[in-house]
Amino acid sequence: MNKREIFEQRRHFLQQMEEVAVQKQHAKLKLTARERLNILFDEGSFFELNTFVEPAKEIKKSQNAYGDGVVVGRGLIQGRSVFAYAQDFTVMGGSLGYAHGMKIAKVQEMALKFGSPCIGLIDSGGARIQEGINSLSAYARIFRNNVRSSGIIPQISVILGPSAGGAVYSPAMTDFVIMTNKTSYMFVTGPDVVKEVLNQEISMDELGGGNVHAEKSGVAHFVFEDEEHAIIQVRKLLAYLPLNNFDPLPVSMDVNFNAERQEYLNKIVPDDPNRPYDMKEIVNILVDNNTFLEIHEKFAQNILVGFARLNGKTIGVVANQPKVMAGTLDINASIKGARFVRFCDSFNIPILVLEDVPGFMPGAEQEHTGIIRNGAKLLYAFCEATVPRVTVITRKAYGGAFIVMNSLGIGGDFNFAWPSAEIAVMGPAGAIKIINRAELAAAADRKAAEQELVEKYKEEIANPFKAEELGMIDDVIKPSDTRRVLITAFEILANKQYSQPERKHGNIPL
Ligand code: HXC
Repeated sequence: MNKREIFEQRRHFLQQMEEVAVQKQHAKLKLTARERLNILFDEGSFFELNTFVEPAKEIKKSQNAYGDGVVVGRGLIQGRSVFAYAQDFTVMGGSLGYAHGMKIAKVQEMALKFGSPCIGLIDSGGARIQEGINSLSAYARIFRNNVRSSGIIPQISVILGPSAGGAVYSPAMTDFVIMTNKTSYMFVTGPDVVKEVLNQEISMDELGGGNVHAEKSGVAHFVFEDEEHAIIQVRKLLAYLPLNNFDPLPVSMDVNFNAERQEYLNKIVPDDPNRPYDMKEIVNILVDNNTFLEIHEKFAQNILVGFARLNGKTIGVVANQPKVMAGTLDINASIKGARFVRFCDSFNIPILVLEDVPGFMPGAEQEHTGIIRNGAKLLYAFCEATVPRVTVITRKAYGGAFIVMNSLGIGGDFNFAWPSAEIAVMGPAGAIKIINRAELAAAADRKAAEQELVEKYKEEIANPFKAEELGMIDDVIKPSDTRRVLITAFEILANKQYSQPERKHGNIPL
């Protein structure tokens, strides 16, 4: 065979591999690696690299193993350069041998060098058992690359099949994890080991399915019913993000907002401080129409985080949700908020905080599982963030939680409050029992005395005007003016220059 014929034959085998892959994957309601990449990238823009790399020699060589179970390359998303790898489960279960691992490492390293996001489409049985230590060393390089790229380029993992054993740690170190429900799963040890060690029966889905990770563990930031929506979410996310930590944020020229609904903000907070309302509604009214992209929607719902556009520009939103657990900060909410704040800070995304928080969650369960250590993460994350940071207090801002949610004292650039705000060391009911103990003990009608003292406390202490007079907030603003105030505040902060003292890295409490 001459070289031209060999060239044609190799292309032919590749074509055959794709046909086999289509049949096998579609039978499992899954797509092939190349089909997935076609959804991810702008049409016709994928530029494949190392297509004909073969598995290590000790593996029984098959003509149908071109690429060694992973398709890698670079394509365009909304016209911007992005690198990606897609594992091919039809070649040895997408298992990661040395050549396979080096292909992934190569695109990771190119993405870092050229300042482009790196996306992993994962569908793999993990380390290729036959290649032993070689496959482990390839994983090691991938993990190191994940960490080297962290905070420099966005890294996103989409889990579209198995992701098991130590192989879960590459996705876990990326910025966002997207899963499908039913066809993807992540666990460190599978159901068989669980049965053997703990004598517990559990299905793959119950142990590490998409919904479990989106709701319970918080490993997954998004979960979708099908692969197409999961992959398209990468495109949606990247539309808010810079390509790297020096790239300017993308700006949308198409700015729409709901002018009529701004008035509704004047009455959205109920007079009764114990009545909930939906903070998500406030976010959606304030930001440009239909631009709030919520992250971790199903996890720790007492705090909302996500990207949005304000006057066309990307912002990160962190907001207490009074509708869930009264917006109290617990361990999961603190971790969720901290991770998001750190992402925004790494990629120069200004942060808007909407605050209505009665405090940290009390109780032995939270204390014993580490609310001190984990609550400190949120505090640390805000303290170290140097991006523009603006807070609006809609209602409660009590105690440590007032400080944590981006107060001026920890470096917030502007703090505004609505007239409905209650800013104090603690809520009226608890406060009067401490500062008026003797008076209450002596009262003939304790209930009436309590009521009177609560009203007095609210009037004299738990309101925004005291904080305004003391300069602890910048201004009390009319709720319907908030969007205008925020746009101006972020405009003022657009050229913010602030850096932390030089050091190797801080030591965030983990
Ligand atoms: C080599 C593997 C493989 C692996 C799957 N295959 N996993 N080959 N190394 N790790 C092969 C199978 O032999 C089979 O080959 C083909 O892929 C499809 O696998 P099936 O088992 O038929 O598919 P399915 O029933 O869908 O099950 C998928 C699976 C299962 C759940 C992923 O294959 C499985 O449990 N694999 C092992 C998972 C695992 O324990 N991996 C190691 C994790 S530890 P044929 O030729 O029959 O088509 C790890 C360490 C990383 O990853 C360390 C980093 C620090």
